[in-house]
Amino acid sequence: MDRFIIRGGQRLRGDIVVGGAKNAALKLLVAGLLTSERLVLHNVPRIADIATMRRLLEQHGLTVEDLDGTGGTLAVGGAITNTEAPYDIVSRMRASILVLGPLLARCGEARVSLPGGCAIGTRPVDMHLKGLEALGAEITLENGYINARASRGLVGERIVLPFASVGATENLLMAACLARGRTEIINAAREPEIGDLVACLNSMGARITGTGGGTLTIDGVEALHGATHHVMPDRIECGTYACAAGITGGDLRLVGGRLEHLGAVVRTLEESGVEVLQEDDALRVRRTGALRGVDIMTEPYPGFPTDMQAQFMALLSVAEGASMVTETIFENRFMHVPELNRMGARINVHGSSAIIRGVHSLSGAPVMATDLRASFSLILAGLAAHGETILSRVYHLDRGYEAVEQKLARCGAQIERVQD
Ligand code: UD1
Repeated sequence: MDRFIIRGGQRLRGDIVVGGAKNAALKLLVAGLLTSERLVLHNVPRIADIATMRRLLEQHGLTVEDLDGTGGTLAVGGAITNTEAPYDIVSRMRASILVLGPLLARCGEARVSLPGGCAIGTRPVDMHLKGLEALGAEITLENGYINARASRGLVGERIVLPFASVGATENLLMAACLARGRTEIINAAREPEIGDLVACLNSMGARITGTGGGTLTIDGVEALHGATHHVMPDRIECGTYACAAGITGGDLRLVGGRLEHLGAVVRTLEESGVEVLQEDDALRVRRTGALRGVDIMTEPYPGFPTDMQAQFMALLSVAEGASMVTETIFENRFMHVPELNRMGARINVHGSSAIIRGVHSLSGAPVMATDLRASFSLILAGLAAHGETILSRVYHLDRGYEAVEQKLARCGAQIERVQD
């Protein structure tokens, strides 16, 4: 298992290229199940979750070709020969549940392992299943698997989601593309990654309107065809490096970063004393004065993203004054708190809120990564701390961040990866 050794105290300066969005690319690969033709994706991030999704699609019978030999351009094609998504892959990556809708729509059946709990909460899939039932699927749960059948095909319906779930919206959206008639998804999630998926599906021949407005209307078509699509930049990776500029008092140009995807994050950065400007193709992020405490509440897009909560917690732990962070999306997403406190932060958790009393400085310590975003909050703390931080279980980070140590080191961070 790899570890990172970080020696803190450097102000980061320079350019960091923002990669393709993990949470878009995973679903765009799954969209390859909806056509017998070739779907070519550019700007795919080179991360472990993408490798896991490739394995899943390959075991369904598809081929995933690496067109440029770097993993950045992938072509999905071929025929579906197996409609089962096994436990060993689904339990490793929850986004695997997204094959359920497309398999059902294309093949009339699917058997997908229940994902079970994960580090940040219980994360049920009830909305995915109820929505697919509304489209005419028969669903049973047996031996830890979801068995879904729609022998006469899916039929469009009006579906009201009780909560704007990202995954449920995407699963139903993809299934509805090949259903007979019109589907409406009311209270659909509005995350930009869903907009990217809609753009790709429409270029494959789907008929979807309403992106970003909370109601998606899908007029089903007989079949989808191949297409070429460029994955959108990763707004969470961009926001994460913006926090790195903030916490180190640095000045970074985040190349490819787009302000319009980061409204709530940028507002919060500015409130806390970090300046963010769009400069041509990059976001320039710098801090000139002291950091100030702010209050944050996570919400579905366009609210403040839960995927940025842990990174801001690191930033606010060295801000002047107190901050309150309330997590409303996942019930167990404060696992970075004890680790940050071991580095000298003063954070108290009360239910779904955390009070952070800013400290003057943090001190390096051995810490342990627990999930993807929590891992990066510990890197941020390590970059700002005095002395050496050793972060173990880096595999959590490798799931979703590309070339972290190279990107940071090029801007002056002292960070190295060591293998046990
Ligand atoms: C996606 C993102 C994840 C992000 C999250 C919220 C991917 C691969 N992952 O996860 O990074 O943190 O959106 O922005 O894109 N829920 C139910 N029943 C359901 C579905 C969800 O109760 O059927 C609950 C979940 O337990 C959670 C909340 O709804 O508490 C939000 O989940 P959801 O929006 O579905 O997140 P994911 O799609 O899993």
